[in-house]
Amino acid sequence: MYFNKCDHPVNFKFDRPGRFEVSDLGNGISKLLVRDPERWSSSDSQAELDEAAFAGQPSAVKLELTPEGFRFGFLKSVPNYVFGVSGSKWMCCFEHQNTYRYYGLGEKNNGFEKSGLRTKFWNTDVMADFYGKQVEFSPTDPMYVTIPYILIKNGNEYAGILVDNPYADFMSFNAPENFRPGQALTFDPYFMFGSTGGQPAVYFLYGPSLPELCSKLQTLCGRLPRPPFWSIGMQQCRWGYRSPATDLTEVDSKYRLNQIPLDGLWMDIDYMNKFQVFTFDPANFKDPKAEFGALQARDRHCVVILDPGVSLTRGYEVYERGLAADIYCKNTEQDNYVGFVWPGATVFPDFSLPAARDWWADEVRIFLDRSGLDGFWVDMNDPSTGASELDEMRFDHGKKPHESYHNQYALGMQRATFEGFKRHNPDKRPFIVSRSGYISTSRYSAIWTGDNISNYYHLRGAIPMVLNLSLSGIPFCGPDVPGFACDPTPELAVDWYKAGCLFPFFRNHSGWGTRRREPWEFGAEACRKLGDCVRLRYRLLPYLYNLFIEQERAGAPILRPLFYEFQDTPELALDRIDDQFMVGSWIMQAPFVVEGQQRRFVALPGPGRWFDPFHDRWYEGNQFIAVDKEWESTPLFIREGAVIPMWENPPEFADAERLREVKLAAYAAPGFNGVTELHYLADDGISFDYRNKAGFSEAKLRVAFTEGCPALTAETLNDRFGKLWFELEANPTFRERR
Ligand code: NOJ
Repeated sequence: MYFNKCDHPVNFKFDRPGRFEVSDLGNGISKLLVRDPERWSSSDSQAELDEAAFAGQPSAVKLELTPEGFRFGFLKSVPNYVFGVSGSKWMCCFEHQNTYRYYGLGEKNNGFEKSGLRTKFWNTDVMADFYGKQVEFSPTDPMYVTIPYILIKNGNEYAGILVDNPYADFMSFNAPENFRPGQALTFDPYFMFGSTGGQPAVYFLYGPSLPELCSKLQTLCGRLPRPPFWSIGMQQCRWGYRSPATDLTEVDSKYRLNQIPLDGLWMDIDYMNKFQVFTFDPANFKDPKAEFGALQARDRHCVVILDPGVSLTRGYEVYERGLAADIYCKNTEQDNYVGFVWPGATVFPDFSLPAARDWWADEVRIFLDRSGLDGFWVDMNDPSTGASELDEMRFDHGKKPHESYHNQYALGMQRATFEGFKRHNPDKRPFIVSRSGYISTSRYSAIWTGDNISNYYHLRGAIPMVLNLSLSGIPFCGPDVPGFACDPTPELAVDWYKAGCLFPFFRNHSGWGTRRREPWEFGAEACRKLGDCVRLRYRLLPYLYNLFIEQERAGAPILRPLFYEFQDTPELALDRIDDQFMVGSWIMQAPFVVEGQQRRFVALPGPGRWFDPFHDRWYEGNQFIAVDKEWESTPLFIREGAVIPMWENPPEFADAERLREVKLAAYAAPGFNGVTELHYLADDGISFDYRNKAGFSEAKLRVAFTEGCPALTAETLNDRFGKLWFELEANPTFRERR
């Protein structure tokens, strides 16, 4: 697989082969399916796309096939380059306009806006598949997650194109032709998408607004089921923690000592016996359930890593059960495919098979019954096979080539792991975070962005990466903070916490052999500052949790680019602002993410004013302002009219009981008149009871601002989880109260 080359229209035949089937799914979503049994027998995609969700809803925009090609709202095929093939490869070319900007593409670390890019979709193990120095300071494309989704911004109108094809897809966006052979082979500006194999199935989604488009994509691909409340709290991990009774207990005590809230204590591969999945190292575990139980009794939740590779060791029960069930991937010679991961020789469950998913789900259930763990972190599911070439790993009893399932491997593992949780306890919300993923991963799992480096390049790149993931239907995402490999300075750690403390997923993790990086490792001053960032997150947990609820109900992303909430104006173009982001509709961050930078510009979109809650100061919107770097605070602004459910004091952990009683922070400058309406919900944070009327409380809130003064009207819609209490406060600051 060549990562820096891409198929080009010159080598494709564009005489419209195959039979095009165009269907209108409703609500501005169309599907194109191309049938040509000589080239593609059927689709190999296992993405779970809910096509029926839009049935019966009228479509203002539909995909049309005209003599010139496709038309979908403002999108138009390039005449004569409508649909081309080269064997089983295919591609579609669309006209590029100067007003277009491109986003999405799932997880990529090559910037926010994608004009000029040529890219491939092939899940990699970044640290293994790229040269180390390249990972440190430059883009590595492709990464772990495949979501072939293009979001096209045309002024303030939006459309999306989703390619549902698990083979190595490719795309380019008005990319420069890097080779011009002299003769007339230049092309008008275009963008294209296609695949190296697999039946073409393409969804076209029309906004027109970005919130509408995001909601449609999320509904099609699957909204993230409400995660357990604790999983949106602080998570602490390290490759190197060996035992809950010693390492995790010590980490837990130090968090308490330093008064830093914490919810998750995580273990990496060190907990296993000889790195064998679903085992515990007998040297460090006497009774896993009791040892994790002691931490759980202190309001912590325990998560361990699961790798798909099963150690090829006779007598190892998990291996033997998989062998008996005949669920491992086969090679060309019909033997079990062997790779080399942590335990040495490893075989791999063929997650494309229902029987393998069923087997894995049962192993997960047995392991959960035995350990009482709260969550799993599923890793190396790109899949990573060490020194062994991937082509030889085949699927469906050896019948299907590797590329038919490669990009979906993690999705199969996530599904099966989710099922294992349900078998263990159908009433408890599963928690899974995964390294790799595919379209519809959001139904099962969060994504962390893999092996990043503790440097400013990776800190800077984390914002556009997480924004594009959020726009691509992966709302629960975040990087390792303050970076996984190499050693952060205290200043970098503080900058990283300031930038990342309101990301949907927030975990401190570090690589083997690196210096420890729990907050107290950076000295007292930095520890206090890191703690402030975590405490800020915890004060805002009611707001964050309600954003997750909004996501589940309506498909809204949690982290948003500025142009999600505001329109571009001639004074303030928002399309390339990739170092600022909105958390929900009301909070905007513009952190310092460049080494040595002491002053930066911040775009304050309009209309409306902005409040700086660290300095108690209002700013007019629709302008850029310059802000200076300060140790005590970070550039964070609240939009006028905001009503933010929060806690006065941060709890020690994500305590769902406290969700019944919140402060409503209402922000307005003198003279502001307006009304903000919202729904506030509370539940037990752990069970599925919220799916019945009995398991939650909900209030419809209306805050009317008159000359800057807020007044609250609350209507109880449901109080089965208990009565909700609100205390209204005007313009509270975010300064730490000590
Ligand atoms: C690779 C993962 O990306 C990393 O987070 C983890 O620490 C190592 N595998 C070891 O399990």
